Amino acid sequence: MSELNLILLGPPGAGKGTQAERLRDDFGIPHISTGDILRGQVAEGTELGRQAKRYMDAGELVPDDVIIDMITERIAEGDARDGFLLDGFPRNRQQAEALNEALGSLDRRLTSVLLIDVPDDDVVRRLAGRRVCVKNPSHIYHVDFDPPKHEGVCDQDGARLIQRDDDKEDTIRRRLEVYHSQTEPLIGYYDDAGLLRRFDGRRSPDEVHAHIRATVATLRLEETL
Ligand code: AP5
Repeated sequence: MSELNLILLGPPGAGKGTQAERLRDDFGIPHISTGDILRGQVAEGTELGRQAKRYMDAGELVPDDVIIDMITERIAEGDARDGFLLDGFPRNRQQAEALNEALGSLDRRLTSVLLIDVPDDDVVRRLAGRRVCVKNPSHIYHVDFDPPKHEGVCDQDGARLIQRDDDKEDTIRRRLEVYHSQTEPLIGYYDDAGLLRRFDGRRSPDEVHAHIRATVATLRLEETL
């Protein structure tokens, strides 16, 4: 089978994590979220987690060297052999170039970059109402747009739902500034490379999913020809 080496790009709250969970099930490739990995380190109280937390709580990027090593090791693991879905990486030009280099050294290349576009005002509404499962942060809800069956309880494993520490309005605004200044330029970078596909993230989660799934299915077919 051909590889599907994919990046999900977009502002905070665009729905990258929401879509990644669905696409993982559709295509059987691992969802690799830098944010989830870092939050796992924070929860375990590791040295990396302790260092990362102060950047995350301030809405700033964690230093590149830490992140780049983490991801280059992760994509070389066995479960990512047939592809991966990167969520939250790369976030600047240096990370994008490091990814190209790491893939090149494995004799692999990117299949596509999937951009989920959402305006800033929607981002603030989405993140302010987001709730995540305390046991598995990839179980994502929204108090209005995607509520759980029982308030405050995860539908999938019955654990408590919590608000992320960086989902406070001031931090959300700072994360958006960082996105526009450091990550948004990657749209042009990947467009120039002929890899970018755009999706309207204002549509419902089901509609966004249907569009992305159809595009990825076509890409996979093209890879096999
Ligand atoms: P990270 O965890 O990557 O956060 P992010 O990029 O800000 O993205 P989010 O997880 O907030 O949003 P999402 O797009 O996944 O949206 P979701 O699906 O949850 O990073 C956190 C921090 O870690 C960074 O600030 C940084 O400090 C550090 N970090 C991470 N990666 C790094 C890197 N590479 N380099 C340096 N530092 C790094 O959806 C959001 C809400 O909207 C949910 O409530 C959901 O239910 C709802 N929703 C989803 N889709 C829809 C829809 N279509 N309509 C209505 N509601 C929707």
